[in-house]
Amino acid sequence: MMISAKMQKALNAQIGMEFAAALKYDAMAAHFEAEALPQAAKRFFRQAGEERTHAHKFLRYVLDAGGRVQIPEIPAPPHTYKSSEAAAQAALESEMAVTKSIHKLFDLAQAEKDHATAATLQWFITEQVEEISSADQFLRLVQRAGEKNILAVEDYLAETAEE
Ligand SMILES: [Fe+2]
Ligand SMILES: [Fe+2]
Repeated sequence: MMISAKMQKALNAQIGMEFAAALKYDAMAAHFEAEALPQAAKRFFRQAGEERTHAHKFLRYVLDAGGRVQIPEIPAPPHTYKSSEAAAQAALESEMAVTKSIHKLFDLAQAEKDHATAATLQWFITEQVEEISSADQFLRLVQRAGEKNILAVEDYLAETAEE
């Protein structure tokens, strides 16, 4: 095994965190769709897919490093939000928590002189810069529009959506 038992445990916890983020975004997307905001729903369904990809990237790495994958219990996500802004705020906070966790993993990799894990984590560190920026943009967009004018956010998302 190329990783320490401690690192394996931490990486497995991170796999859980990525799957938890996926569930959070799926639930958020369902909330937006139920609130008749299909573009916001689409944004979060897409985001949920990205989080599953992140989980699989970590899972793949644990296997490649000769470790054992142990997916932890995933907590149920919140299903309703009192406003679009509250949902957007929760998404940003979730990305910040994930970023902090990845930075801690990197600190551990460095402390253990585990260069392979550190190199793998570099990708995630860069990815999180984009994730936070995107979540922050969405929050500011929702805040600027306000709940009454939330359809402006839908229009914006429809215009700028990448497939
Ligand atoms: Fe992620
Ligand atoms: Fe993310």
